[in-house]
Amino acid sequence: MKVVSIVGARPQFIKLAPVLRAIQRYNRENPGQPIQEVLVHTGQHYDYEMSQVFFEELSLKAPDYHLGVGSGTHGYQTGEMLRRIEEVLLREKPDWVMVYGDTNSTLAGALAAAKLHIPVAHVEAGLRSFNRRMPEEINRVLTDHMSTLLFCPTERAVENLRREGITEGVHLVGDVMYDAALQYTELAERKSCVLETLGLEQKEYALATVHRAENTDAHERLSGILRGLERIAGEGLPVVFPLHPRTAKKLRRLGVALNGVRVLEPVSYLDMLVLEKNARVILTDSGGVQKEAFFFRVPCVTLREETEWVETVEAGWNTLVGCDPKRIVQEALEARVGVESVWPYGDGRAGERIVCILCGVLCEEKADGAEGDSLGLG
Ligand code: UD1
Ligand code: UDP
Repeated sequence: MKVVSIVGARPQFIKLAPVLRAIQRYNRENPGQPIQEVLVHTGQHYDYEMSQVFFEELSLKAPDYHLGVGSGTHGYQTGEMLRRIEEVLLREKPDWVMVYGDTNSTLAGALAAAKLHIPVAHVEAGLRSFNRRMPEEINRVLTDHMSTLLFCPTERAVENLRREGITEGVHLVGDVMYDAALQYTELAERKSCVLETLGLEQKEYALATVHRAENTDAHERLSGILRGLERIAGEGLPVVFPLHPRTAKKLRRLGVALNGVRVLEPVSYLDMLVLEKNARVILTDSGGVQKEAFFFRVPCVTLREETEWVETVEAGWNTLVGCDPKRIVQEALEARVGVESVWPYGDGRAGERIVCILCGVLCEEKADGAEGDSLGLG
Protein backbone atom coordinates (compact mmCIF):
# COMPACT_ATOMS: atom_id res chain seq x y z
CA MET A 1 0.00 0.00 0.00
CA LYS A 2 1.29 3.43 -0.89
CA VAL A 3 0.47 6.49 1.22
CA VAL A 4 1.36 10.07 0.35
CA SER A 5 1.53 12.28 3.46
CA ILE A 6 1.25 16.02 2.96
CA VAL A 7 2.63 18.50 5.47
CA GLY A 8 3.96 22.05 5.30
CA ALA A 9 3.47 24.03 8.52
CA ARG A 10 5.13 23.77 11.95
CA PRO A 11 2.41 21.89 13.87
CA GLN A 12 2.10 19.37 11.03
CA PHE A 13 5.68 18.17 11.43
CA ILE A 14 4.90 17.43 15.07
CA LYS A 15 1.61 15.65 14.25
CA LEU A 16 3.37 13.62 11.55
CA ALA A 17 6.03 12.23 13.91
CA PRO A 18 3.89 9.68 15.84
CA VAL A 19 2.23 8.47 12.65
CA LEU A 20 5.56 7.94 10.87
CA ARG A 21 6.86 6.14 13.92
CA ALA A 22 3.79 3.85 13.86
CA ILE A 23 4.29 3.18 10.14
CA GLN A 24 7.92 2.22 10.75
CA ARG A 25 6.83 -0.16 13.47
CA TYR A 26 4.10 -1.65 11.27
CA ASN A 27 6.65 -2.21 8.50
CA ARG A 28 9.03 -3.96 10.89
CA GLU A 29 6.23 -6.26 12.03
CA ASN A 30 4.79 -6.82 8.53
CA PRO A 31 7.84 -7.02 6.25
CA GLY A 32 5.80 -8.90 3.61
CA GLN A 33 3.32 -6.09 3.07
CA PRO A 34 4.95 -2.82 4.08
CA ILE A 35 3.38 0.61 3.78
CA GLN A 36 5.26 2.66 1.22
CA GLU A 37 5.36 6.17 2.66
CA VAL A 38 5.93 9.15 0.37
CA LEU A 39 6.42 12.45 2.21
CA VAL A 40 5.50 15.76 0.59
CA HIS A 41 6.51 19.11 2.16
CA THR A 42 4.56 21.94 0.54
CA GLY A 43 7.06 24.58 1.71
CA GLN A 44 4.38 26.63 3.49
CA HIS A 45 6.86 27.11 6.35
CA TYR A 46 10.48 27.39 5.30
CA ASP A 47 12.62 29.22 7.91
CA TYR A 48 15.02 26.82 9.63
CA GLU A 49 13.31 27.29 13.00
CA MET A 50 9.82 26.78 11.48
CA SER A 51 10.65 23.63 9.52
CA GLN A 52 14.06 21.91 9.34
CA VAL A 53 14.66 21.98 13.10
CA PHE A 54 11.62 19.70 13.57
CA PHE A 55 12.91 17.19 11.02
CA GLU A 56 16.19 17.06 12.92
CA GLU A 57 14.81 16.89 16.46
CA LEU A 58 12.01 14.45 15.70
CA SER A 59 14.26 12.36 13.39
CA LEU A 60 11.75 12.66 10.56
CA LYS A 61 12.81 11.31 7.19
CA ALA A 62 13.64 13.98 4.62
CA PRO A 63 10.67 14.83 2.38
CA ASP A 64 10.56 12.88 -0.89
CA TYR A 65 9.17 16.03 -2.53
CA HIS A 66 9.74 19.60 -1.42
CA LEU A 67 7.35 21.82 -3.35
CA GLY A 68 8.82 25.13 -2.20
CA VAL A 69 5.53 27.02 -2.38
CA GLY A 70 6.35 29.56 0.34
CA SER A 71 4.20 32.47 1.50
CA GLY A 72 1.47 34.42 -0.27
CA THR A 73 -2.22 35.20 -0.24
CA HIS A 74 -4.60 32.34 0.52
CA GLY A 75 -5.52 31.98 -3.13
CA TYR A 76 -1.94 32.05 -4.37
CA GLN A 77 -0.62 29.71 -1.69
CA THR A 78 -3.45 27.17 -1.87
CA GLY A 79 -3.59 27.31 -5.67
CA GLU A 80 0.15 26.74 -6.12
CA MET A 81 0.05 23.85 -3.67
CA LEU A 82 -2.92 22.31 -5.47
CA ARG A 83 -1.14 22.46 -8.81
CA ARG A 84 2.15 21.05 -7.51
CA ILE A 85 0.57 18.36 -5.30
CA GLU A 86 -1.51 17.17 -8.25
CA GLU A 87 1.68 16.57 -10.25
CA VAL A 88 3.10 14.46 -7.42
CA LEU A 89 -0.10 12.44 -7.05
CA LEU A 90 -0.32 11.78 -10.78
CA ARG A 91 3.22 10.49 -10.69
CA GLU A 92 3.00 8.48 -7.45
CA LYS A 93 -0.56 7.10 -7.83
CA PRO A 94 -0.98 6.40 -4.09
CA ASP A 95 -3.73 4.35 -2.47
CA TRP A 96 -4.24 7.02 0.20
CA VAL A 97 -3.41 10.67 0.82
CA MET A 98 -2.96 11.65 4.47
CA VAL A 99 -3.43 15.26 5.55
CA TYR A 100 -3.03 16.81 8.98
CA GLY A 101 -4.85 19.56 10.85
CA ASP A 102 -6.30 22.66 9.23
CA THR A 103 -3.75 24.69 7.29
CA ASN A 104 -3.73 25.67 3.62
CA SER A 105 -1.44 22.66 3.05
CA THR A 106 -4.20 20.42 4.48
CA LEU A 107 -6.89 21.82 2.20
CA ALA A 108 -4.71 21.76 -0.92
CA GLY A 109 -3.64 18.15 -0.25
CA ALA A 110 -7.20 16.96 0.31
CA LEU A 111 -8.58 18.79 -2.71
CA ALA A 112 -5.85 17.60 -5.07
CA ALA A 113 -6.47 14.00 -3.97
CA ALA A 114 -10.28 14.16 -3.98
CA LYS A 115 -10.32 15.52 -7.55
CA LEU A 116 -8.17 12.59 -8.65
CA HIS A 117 -10.47 10.14 -6.80
CA ILE A 118 -7.72 9.19 -4.38
CA PRO A 119 -9.19 8.59 -0.90
CA VAL A 120 -8.20 11.11 1.76
CA ALA A 121 -7.42 10.30 5.40
CA HIS A 122 -7.67 13.35 7.67
CA VAL A 123 -5.75 13.35 10.93
CA GLU A 124 -7.35 15.70 13.48
CA ALA A 125 -10.78 15.61 11.87
CA GLY A 126 -13.95 17.08 13.34
CA LEU A 127 -12.58 20.12 15.15
CA ARG A 128 -14.71 23.22 14.97
CA SER A 129 -14.45 26.76 16.30
CA PHE A 130 -17.77 27.69 14.64
CA ASN A 131 -16.08 30.88 13.46
CA ARG A 132 -16.08 30.89 9.68
CA ARG A 133 -13.87 33.99 9.57
CA MET A 134 -10.93 31.81 10.58
CA PRO A 135 -9.10 30.42 7.54
CA GLU A 136 -8.52 27.25 9.55
CA GLU A 137 -12.27 26.68 9.99
CA ILE A 138 -12.84 26.78 6.24
CA ASN A 139 -9.91 24.40 5.73
CA ARG A 140 -11.22 21.93 8.32
CA VAL A 141 -14.82 21.85 7.19
CA LEU A 142 -13.90 21.37 3.52
CA THR A 143 -11.24 18.78 4.27
CA ASP A 144 -13.60 16.75 6.47
CA HIS A 145 -16.26 16.76 3.78
CA MET A 146 -13.74 15.44 1.24
CA SER A 147 -12.29 12.71 3.46
CA THR A 148 -12.95 8.98 3.41
CA LEU A 149 -11.27 8.28 6.75
CA LEU A 150 -11.67 10.84 9.53
CA PHE A 151 -9.38 10.37 12.52
CA CYS A 152 -10.85 12.30 15.44
CA PRO A 153 -8.86 13.26 18.54
CA THR A 154 -11.90 13.64 20.83
CA GLU A 155 -15.53 12.57 21.35
CA ARG A 156 -16.53 16.17 20.67
CA ALA A 157 -14.93 16.02 17.24
CA VAL A 158 -16.92 12.87 16.43
CA GLU A 159 -20.08 14.66 17.56
CA ASN A 160 -19.28 17.73 15.42
CA LEU A 161 -19.00 15.52 12.36
CA ARG A 162 -22.23 13.70 13.18
CA ARG A 163 -24.04 17.05 13.27
CA GLU A 164 -22.78 17.72 9.75
CA GLY A 165 -24.04 14.34 8.59
CA ILE A 166 -20.62 12.66 8.51
CA THR A 167 -20.75 9.28 10.25
CA GLU A 168 -19.02 6.90 7.86
CA GLY A 169 -15.27 6.42 8.12
CA VAL A 170 -15.16 8.31 11.42
CA HIS A 171 -12.78 6.89 14.04
CA LEU A 172 -12.06 8.16 17.53
CA VAL A 173 -8.33 7.50 17.83
CA GLY A 174 -7.01 10.06 20.36
CA ASP A 175 -4.77 13.03 19.81
CA VAL A 176 -1.51 12.62 17.89
CA MET A 177 -0.08 15.69 19.65
CA TYR A 178 -0.52 13.86 22.95
CA ASP A 179 1.34 10.90 21.45
CA ALA A 180 4.14 13.29 20.44
CA ALA A 181 4.30 14.98 23.85
CA LEU A 182 4.54 11.56 25.53
CA GLN A 183 7.19 10.39 23.10
CA TYR A 184 9.43 13.47 23.31
CA THR A 185 9.10 15.04 26.78
CA GLU A 186 11.71 12.79 28.37
CA LEU A 187 14.16 13.46 25.54
CA ALA A 188 13.42 17.18 25.84
CA GLU A 189 14.21 17.15 29.54
CA ARG A 190 17.48 15.35 28.91
CA LYS A 191 18.60 17.46 25.98
CA SER A 192 17.22 20.97 26.33
CA CYS A 193 19.18 23.61 28.24
CA VAL A 194 16.66 26.34 27.50
CA LEU A 195 15.88 27.22 31.13
CA GLU A 196 19.57 27.56 31.99
CA THR A 197 20.34 29.51 28.80
CA LEU A 198 17.56 31.98 29.49
CA GLY A 199 18.22 32.05 33.26
CA LEU A 200 14.63 30.98 34.07
CA GLU A 201 13.46 29.40 37.30
CA GLN A 202 10.80 26.68 37.26
CA LYS A 203 7.30 28.13 37.70
CA GLU A 204 8.61 31.68 37.85
CA TYR A 205 7.81 32.87 34.36
CA ALA A 206 4.96 33.11 31.88
CA LEU A 207 5.27 31.69 28.36
CA ALA A 208 3.44 33.44 25.50
CA THR A 209 2.84 32.70 21.80
CA VAL A 210 0.72 34.70 19.34
CA HIS A 211 0.25 34.01 15.63
CA ARG A 212 -3.44 33.78 14.65
CA ALA A 213 -4.30 36.03 11.73
CA GLU A 214 -7.32 37.36 13.65
CA ASN A 215 -4.91 38.68 16.33
CA THR A 216 -1.89 39.75 14.29
CA ASP A 217 -3.84 41.42 11.49
CA ALA A 218 -6.14 43.52 13.68
CA HIS A 219 -4.16 46.38 15.18
CA GLU A 220 -6.51 46.86 18.16
CA ARG A 221 -6.37 43.19 19.10
CA LEU A 222 -2.60 42.89 18.72
CA SER A 223 -1.89 46.00 20.77
CA GLY A 224 -4.32 44.83 23.50
CA ILE A 225 -2.44 41.54 23.76
CA LEU A 226 0.99 43.21 23.75
CA ARG A 227 -0.07 45.68 26.47
CA GLY A 228 -1.29 42.71 28.50
CA LEU A 229 2.08 40.94 28.18
CA GLU A 230 4.00 44.11 29.10
CA ARG A 231 1.89 44.60 32.21
CA ILE A 232 2.42 41.01 33.36
CA ALA A 233 6.18 41.55 33.06
CA GLY A 234 5.70 44.88 34.90
CA GLU A 235 4.06 42.98 37.78
CA GLY A 236 7.30 41.03 38.22
CA LEU A 237 6.45 37.81 36.35
CA PRO A 238 8.96 37.48 33.49
CA VAL A 239 7.28 36.83 30.12
CA VAL A 240 9.07 34.66 27.54
CA PHE A 241 7.73 35.24 24.04
CA PRO A 242 9.01 33.08 21.13
CA LEU A 243 7.86 35.06 18.14
CA HIS A 244 6.14 33.47 15.12
CA PRO A 245 7.41 35.08 11.87
CA ARG A 246 3.93 36.42 11.04
CA THR A 247 3.89 38.31 14.35
CA ALA A 248 7.54 39.36 14.04
CA LYS A 249 6.77 40.91 10.67
CA LYS A 250 3.81 42.83 12.11
CA LEU A 251 5.82 44.14 15.07
CA ARG A 252 8.61 45.31 12.78
CA ARG A 253 6.12 47.10 10.56
CA LEU A 254 4.42 48.79 13.51
CA GLY A 255 7.77 49.58 15.15
CA VAL A 256 6.52 48.17 18.48
CA ALA A 257 9.01 47.59 21.31
CA LEU A 258 7.89 45.22 24.02
CA ASN A 259 9.04 46.61 27.34
CA GLY A 260 10.19 43.97 29.79
CA VAL A 261 9.15 41.01 27.61
CA ARG A 262 11.80 38.43 26.58
CA VAL A 263 11.27 38.20 22.84
CA LEU A 264 12.88 35.13 21.19
CA GLU A 265 13.10 33.57 17.76
CA PRO A 266 10.71 30.59 17.42
CA VAL A 267 12.12 27.83 19.62
CA SER A 268 12.56 24.15 18.75
CA TYR A 269 9.99 21.56 19.83
CA LEU A 270 12.17 20.11 22.59
CA ASP A 271 12.87 23.59 24.01
CA MET A 272 9.17 24.40 23.73
CA LEU A 273 8.14 21.30 25.68
CA VAL A 274 10.53 22.26 28.48
CA LEU A 275 9.39 25.90 28.46
CA GLU A 276 5.75 24.80 28.61
CA LYS A 277 6.17 22.23 31.34
CA ASN A 278 7.99 24.63 33.63
CA ALA A 279 5.91 27.78 33.04
CA ARG A 280 3.68 29.14 35.77
CA VAL A 281 1.15 30.12 33.16
CA ILE A 282 0.90 29.98 29.36
CA LEU A 283 -0.72 32.70 27.26
CA THR A 284 -1.46 31.71 23.68
CA ASP A 285 -3.72 31.75 20.65
CA SER A 286 -2.20 28.50 19.32
CA GLY A 287 -4.29 25.34 19.18
CA GLY A 288 -1.37 23.03 19.86
CA VAL A 289 0.02 25.10 22.72
CA GLN A 290 -3.37 25.20 24.51
CA LYS A 291 -3.41 21.43 24.48
CA GLU A 292 0.20 21.03 25.54
CA ALA A 293 -0.50 23.34 28.52
CA PHE A 294 -3.27 20.92 29.46
CA PHE A 295 -1.02 17.86 29.00
CA PHE A 296 1.42 19.40 31.48
CA ARG A 297 -1.32 20.71 33.78
CA VAL A 298 -0.15 24.29 33.33
CA PRO A 299 -2.88 26.97 33.52
CA CYS A 300 -3.58 28.45 30.09
CA VAL A 301 -4.93 31.88 29.18
CA THR A 302 -6.21 31.77 25.62
CA LEU A 303 -6.05 35.00 23.65
CA ARG A 304 -9.16 34.21 21.64
CA GLU A 305 -12.94 34.31 22.05
CA GLU A 306 -13.48 30.65 21.23
CA THR A 307 -11.49 27.43 21.02
CA GLU A 308 -11.72 24.11 19.24
CA TRP A 309 -10.24 22.41 22.30
CA VAL A 310 -13.27 22.96 24.53
CA GLU A 311 -12.34 20.11 26.88
CA THR A 312 -9.42 22.14 28.25
CA VAL A 313 -11.82 24.95 29.19
CA GLU A 314 -14.41 22.59 30.65
CA ALA A 315 -11.73 20.99 32.84
CA GLY A 316 -10.89 24.44 34.21
CA TRP A 317 -7.28 24.58 32.94
CA ASN A 318 -7.92 27.02 30.11
CA THR A 319 -9.62 30.43 30.21
CA LEU A 320 -10.72 32.32 27.10
CA VAL A 321 -9.90 36.00 27.53
CA GLY A 322 -9.69 37.50 24.04
CA CYS A 323 -7.45 40.57 23.78
CA ASP A 324 -8.50 42.83 26.66
CA PRO A 325 -5.26 43.70 28.52
CA LYS A 326 -6.99 43.94 31.90
CA ARG A 327 -8.45 40.43 31.65
CA ILE A 328 -5.19 39.04 30.28
CA VAL A 329 -3.22 40.35 33.27
CA GLN A 330 -5.84 39.33 35.81
CA GLU A 331 -6.15 35.75 34.54
CA ALA A 332 -2.41 35.31 34.04
CA LEU A 333 -1.57 36.41 37.56
CA GLU A 334 -4.35 34.30 39.03
CA ALA A 335 -3.17 31.24 36.99
CA ARG A 336 -6.28 29.21 37.74
CA VAL A 337 -5.77 25.51 38.15
CA GLY A 338 -8.37 23.09 36.89
CA VAL A 339 -10.02 20.01 38.27
CA GLU A 340 -9.28 16.40 37.52
CA SER A 341 -11.70 15.19 34.89
CA VAL A 342 -12.12 12.57 32.23
CA TRP A 343 -9.02 12.49 30.02
CA PRO A 344 -10.23 13.54 26.55
CA TYR A 345 -7.12 12.99 24.40
CA GLY A 346 -6.62 9.23 24.30
CA ASP A 347 -3.84 7.03 25.61
CA GLY A 348 -0.86 8.12 23.51
CA ARG A 349 -1.47 5.47 20.83
CA ALA A 350 -3.38 7.53 18.28
CA GLY A 351 -0.63 7.07 15.67
CA GLU A 352 -0.78 3.28 16.01
CA ARG A 353 -4.56 3.23 15.69
CA ILE A 354 -4.42 5.39 12.58
CA VAL A 355 -2.00 3.00 10.92
CA CYS A 356 -4.03 -0.08 11.92
CA ILE A 357 -7.23 1.41 10.54
CA LEU A 358 -5.53 2.53 7.36
CA CYS A 359 -4.28 -0.99 6.76
CA GLY A 360 -7.65 -2.49 7.59
CA VAL A 361 -5.97 -4.42 10.36
CA LEU A 362 -8.18 -5.52 13.18
CA CYS A 363 -7.28 -3.34 16.12
CA GLU A 364 -8.86 -1.76 19.10
CA GLU A 365 -10.06 1.40 17.41
CA LYS A 366 -11.65 3.35 20.19
CA ALA A 367 -9.57 5.53 22.42
CA ASP A 368 -12.32 6.54 24.82
CA GLY A 369 -11.96 5.54 28.45
CA ALA A 370 -8.24 5.51 27.74
CA GLU A 371 -5.65 5.67 30.45
CA GLY A 372 -3.88 8.82 29.32
CA ASP A 373 -2.82 11.24 31.98
CA SER A 374 -1.03 14.51 32.44
CA LEU A 375 2.70 14.52 31.82
CA GLY A 376 4.17 14.28 35.25
CA LEU A 377 2.65 17.29 36.93
CA GLY A 378 -0.87 16.06 37.69
C1 UD1 B 1 -0.24 28.82 9.33
C2 UD1 B 1 -1.65 28.24 9.32
C3 UD1 B 1 -2.22 28.24 10.74
C4 UD1 B 1 -1.26 27.54 11.70
C5 UD1 B 1 0.14 28.14 11.59
C6 UD1 B 1 1.09 27.34 12.44
C7 UD1 B 1 -2.97 28.65 7.29
C8 UD1 B 1 -4.05 29.46 6.67
N1 UD1 B 1 -2.55 29.04 8.50
O1 UD1 B 1 -0.35 30.17 9.73
O2 UD1 B 1 -3.46 27.54 10.74
O3 UD1 B 1 -1.76 27.68 13.01
O4 UD1 B 1 0.58 28.09 10.22
O5 UD1 B 1 2.24 28.05 12.76
O6 UD1 B 1 -2.52 27.70 6.71
N2 UD1 B 1 6.65 33.28 7.38
C9 UD1 B 1 8.01 33.38 7.44
N3 UD1 B 1 8.73 32.22 7.47
C10 UD1 B 1 8.15 30.99 7.45
C11 UD1 B 1 6.76 30.92 7.36
C12 UD1 B 1 6.02 32.07 7.33
O7 UD1 B 1 8.58 34.46 7.47
O8 UD1 B 1 8.88 29.99 7.49
C13 UD1 B 1 5.86 34.54 7.40
C14 UD1 B 1 5.54 35.07 6.02
O9 UD1 B 1 5.60 36.44 6.06
C15 UD1 B 1 4.08 34.65 5.84
C16 UD1 B 1 3.53 34.68 7.26
O10 UD1 B 1 4.63 34.29 8.08
O11 UD1 B 1 3.38 35.49 4.98
C17 UD1 B 1 2.37 33.76 7.50
O12 UD1 B 1 2.68 32.43 7.11
P1 UD1 B 1 1.51 31.43 6.60
O13 UD1 B 1 2.06 30.08 6.39
O14 UD1 B 1 0.74 32.04 5.50
O15 UD1 B 1 0.51 31.42 7.81
P2 UD1 B 1 0.78 31.21 9.36
O16 UD1 B 1 0.41 32.47 10.06
O17 UD1 B 1 2.14 30.67 9.57
N1 UDP C 1 6.02 25.28 18.93
C1 UDP C 1 7.41 25.20 18.88
N2 UDP C 1 8.14 26.36 18.97
C2 UDP C 1 7.56 27.59 19.12
C3 UDP C 1 6.14 27.66 19.19
C4 UDP C 1 5.40 26.48 19.07
O1 UDP C 1 7.97 24.11 18.75
O2 UDP C 1 8.29 28.59 19.19
C5 UDP C 1 5.24 24.04 18.81
C6 UDP C 1 4.29 23.81 19.96
O3 UDP C 1 4.93 23.14 21.02
C7 UDP C 1 3.20 22.98 19.31
C8 UDP C 1 3.17 23.49 17.89
O4 UDP C 1 4.42 24.15 17.67
O5 UDP C 1 3.55 21.62 19.29
C9 UDP C 1 2.05 24.48 17.71
O6 UDP C 1 2.19 25.12 16.50
P1 UDP C 1 1.59 26.55 16.19
O7 UDP C 1 1.33 27.27 17.47
O8 UDP C 1 2.49 27.19 15.21
O9 UDP C 1 0.24 26.22 15.41
P2 UDP C 1 -1.23 25.77 15.85
O10 UDP C 1 -1.14 24.63 16.80
O11 UDP C 1 -1.93 26.96 16.41
O12 UDP C 1 -1.86 25.39 14.55
